[in-house]
Amino acid sequence: MSHVIRDLPAALPVPDSGIASSPLLDLPGGTKVVLFAMDQGQEISPHAAPFPAQILLLEGRLEVLIGDAWNGVAPHEGLELPAGLPHGVKALAPSHFLLTMLRGAGQPADRPAAGAAVKPPRSVASPVLQHWMDQHDEALRRLDRMEGGIGKEDWTTVGEVARWLYDELKAHNEAEERCLFPLMDPFFGGQHGPTDCMRDEHRLLWDSTLQLQQELEARPGGSPRAGTLALSIVGNLRAHIDKENQVLYPMAERILTPDQLRQLEQAYAAG
Ligand SMILES: [Fe+2]
Ligand SMILES: [Fe+2]
Repeated sequence: MSHVIRDLPAALPVPDSGIASSPLLDLPGGTKVVLFAMDQGQEISPHAAPFPAQILLLEGRLEVLIGDAWNGVAPHEGLELPAGLPHGVKALAPSHFLLTMLRGAGQPADRPAAGAAVKPPRSVASPVLQHWMDQHDEALRRLDRMEGGIGKEDWTTVGEVARWLYDELKAHNEAEERCLFPLMDPFFGGQHGPTDCMRDEHRLLWDSTLQLQQELEARPGGSPRAGTLALSIVGNLRAHIDKENQVLYPMAERILTPDQLRQLEQAYAAG
């Protein structure tokens, strides 16, 4: 689509007793984002897909089937739909949601080993966004180390990575919030859109990396809680980085004007 949408729900009215959808993004690497509008009582019947997907409810109320369990979803909440598990959607109220299909993400839990050839597509031109994607790569390497440390109960390594994440990655997150997100916010029409979800995830990550450091200071020999915290950080941060690399940054380059992209560079340079 070549035009800019300022208000996603207004761009696709909910049809009477029906379902409407409109593709927003279809990237060469296989990531597709589709806006859905569903009237109350409408259903998408259960089906499985060979790739993972995510649902983000903008407004309304949904029940989403994952495997054999129905999950209530409130506005501004998201759900991960793992590859291979049946999923379906029921609208309990007139609803708008974004469905992100990560068709290039391969099989779940089969991340390539560190150094393997599979890489997410690089589809950004902005030097700042490219720099941040390089920082994501560095974070992913550290997460691989953290995951290895959890497996070997090497709490020194886990603690080192937690400290790095809290010190270095927090600065990266803050730069995103300062320089990029305010330029994208108007696109989501005042709704709790993808930029607000990323802000929420940043706070969750800061909180859990701080808690993990404190837990390891109190119990340097490790604990079940340290293991749980570290595993949640590995999973949540990998998913966060995938969303930014595959959806948010490419979306930024599509919706921001050349002038706004220059503002992004200037804001980042100004520190
Ligand atoms: Fe982020
Ligand atoms: Fe980021």
